[in-house]
Amino acid sequence: MTGNGAAGGGAVLLGIESSCDETAAAVTAGGRTALSNVIASQIDVHKVFGGVVPEIAARHHLTAVNGVVSAALSEAGICARDVDAIAVTKGPGLVGAVLIGLATAKAMAFALGKPLIGVHHIRGHICAAFLEHPALEPPFLSLVVSGGHTSLVDVRDYREMDVLGATRDDAAGEAWDKVARVLGLGYPGGPKVDALAKEGDAAAAPFKRVLLEKDSLDFSFSGIKTGVMNYVNSMNQAGTPWNPADAAAGFQQAVIDVLAAKTALALERTGRRTLTLSGGVAANTALRARMRAECERLGVRIFIPSPIYCTDNAAMIACAGYYDFIGGHTDGLDLDASAVLSMSE
Ligand code: KG4
Ligand code: ZN
Repeated sequence: MTGNGAAGGGAVLLGIESSCDETAAAVTAGGRTALSNVIASQIDVHKVFGGVVPEIAARHHLTAVNGVVSAALSEAGICARDVDAIAVTKGPGLVGAVLIGLATAKAMAFALGKPLIGVHHIRGHICAAFLEHPALEPPFLSLVVSGGHTSLVDVRDYREMDVLGATRDDAAGEAWDKVARVLGLGYPGGPKVDALAKEGDAAAAPFKRVLLEKDSLDFSFSGIKTGVMNYVNSMNQAGTPWNPADAAAGFQQAVIDVLAAKTALALERTGRRTLTLSGGVAANTALRARMRAECERLGVRIFIPSPIYCTDNAAMIACAGYYDFIGGHTDGLDLDASAVLSMSE
């Protein structure tokens, strides 16, 4: 199989992602069709530390990346020389981790004489929604909820995106992970809180919703983590029996209420009638169900990627890179890795 190069339409892209604790490579055709999606997770490596250790993450990316890229190419049934371009996460993320994927992509682009495309990680998360939904076209509003970001983004076009609001402190995923620690569930916290909350009663452990200023589209989640911590401590000090499942459900309900309220405000303000939900926390069962219900109530179309495309993956990077490629937006081999990167860079 070969790509069709400058013609663009069915262009075959290799995507590489290494911004946190997943080493990932994928091949897409025509941007939206994933021919492969290989993810090597480092969960077991970081579990003992209760969170991602940046230096260890970088070392593991280094040992995993070549094998992951080879697997992605062979699963897609192509050779490296068949790709039309190589897309890679350029940031934001753990800079030592981003550098491994970037150096790999640069070396391949140079050796193969293929264009290199640096992709903003959050734009990748937003583009994940294109992979399984052919009907989805910009403009739309996107709620991005990941371990490092919580943002409401107005997606005007495939490459034109404006951040309307973002977290002022912890990202939603960070709150999920910290609450998991408080509840003794360990790392990675999000999926564990998700599962435990299903057995709990949110009304039995209510937590304060922080909505900030009435008209603000920003978020704040650091208080809720303290709220859960105080709840656990006060119950333990008083010797009152409490149910961790109720605390998990109450925490989720409070955060999801805030996400739903701010998203409804952003939909109203922008007049958008389509919403996408992206990022690792978009894998959360309760959040998915609630956002679907809210959108039905508001008469808004909603598209949510399958959980495997919500958490970090490289198909989303290849998809975003495709829209750069067909627009002629490629990068030089001097492309840098960035720990912090605004969506306009
Ligand atoms: O997008 P992602 O894979 O990496 C970043 O770009 O940060 O997001 C990871 C975050 C973690 O905080 C993880 O706990 C959270 O997504 N997460 C979840 C679920 N699955 C992953 N949070 C809540 N419920 C889940 N099912
Ligand atoms: Zn991510």
